[in-house]
Amino acid sequence: MGVPSGYVDAGDYWPRLLNPRPAYIVASGRRGGVLGFMAASWVMPLSEDPPRVVAALGVESHTLSVIRECGCFSINVMGVGDRDFVYAAGVVSGRERRDKASLLGAEFSWDTVSGCPRLVRPRPLGVVEARVWRVVDDVAEDTCLVVGDVVAAYGLEGLFTGRWWDLRRVRVLLHGAGRVFTTNSGVFYARRSV
Ligand SMILES: Cc1cc2nc3c(=O)[nH]c(=O)nc-3n(C[C@H](O)[C@H](O)[C@H](O)COP(=O)(O)O)c2cc1C
Repeated sequence: MGVPSGYVDAGDYWPRLLNPRPAYIVASGRRGGVLGFMAASWVMPLSEDPPRVVAALGVESHTLSVIRECGCFSINVMGVGDRDFVYAAGVVSGRERRDKASLLGAEFSWDTVSGCPRLVRPRPLGVVEARVWRVVDDVAEDTCLVVGDVVAAYGLEGLFTGRWWDLRRVRVLLHGAGRVFTTNSGVFYARRSV
């Protein structure tokens, strides 16, 4: 790859150029009695018609195997204050630690439309619930694309207006690299276009 003058080659670290991006907790049901949840930042809206989301999840992750079985998942939007929890959820695997949830002090509620749990402790800023439409296996060696139909979505009162985040007040957790996180700051309006 050519590097124009004035730029630094990212090499194998190229995904970090696309950061910071929100670091979510993706949660699903239980498999073999072990709840599936993990940190995930390779997650994004896919379409509005129909409303769909997509997540690139590691083939080795316990959470992916649970999602395949349960057919649903929740995307929990976290605040910057919960970076320790999110980081831990991203380095501990339910494959080795059957007690991942209690180890991390995570609590979930099953009062959902999708049928899969949402995180309640630590309390997320918002939740998008989805039912699996398709898991695409043949996109890469290390990840699968999990495509889900959005069936419910809600944000915390006082921070989410029903249409957008109140960016003066909300502090969404964004991942930089490794243990380094950041958050949004300031509100900047683009000029009205012609
Ligand atoms: C901030 C952060 C973001 C992450 N994002 C992703 C991601 O988008 N996709 C992924 O497969 N793994 C991601 N990971 C790694 C998984 O969370 C990690 O492999 C986790 O241990 C899997 O847990 P599980 O085996 O219990 O499902 C991320 C880790 C961190 C710390």
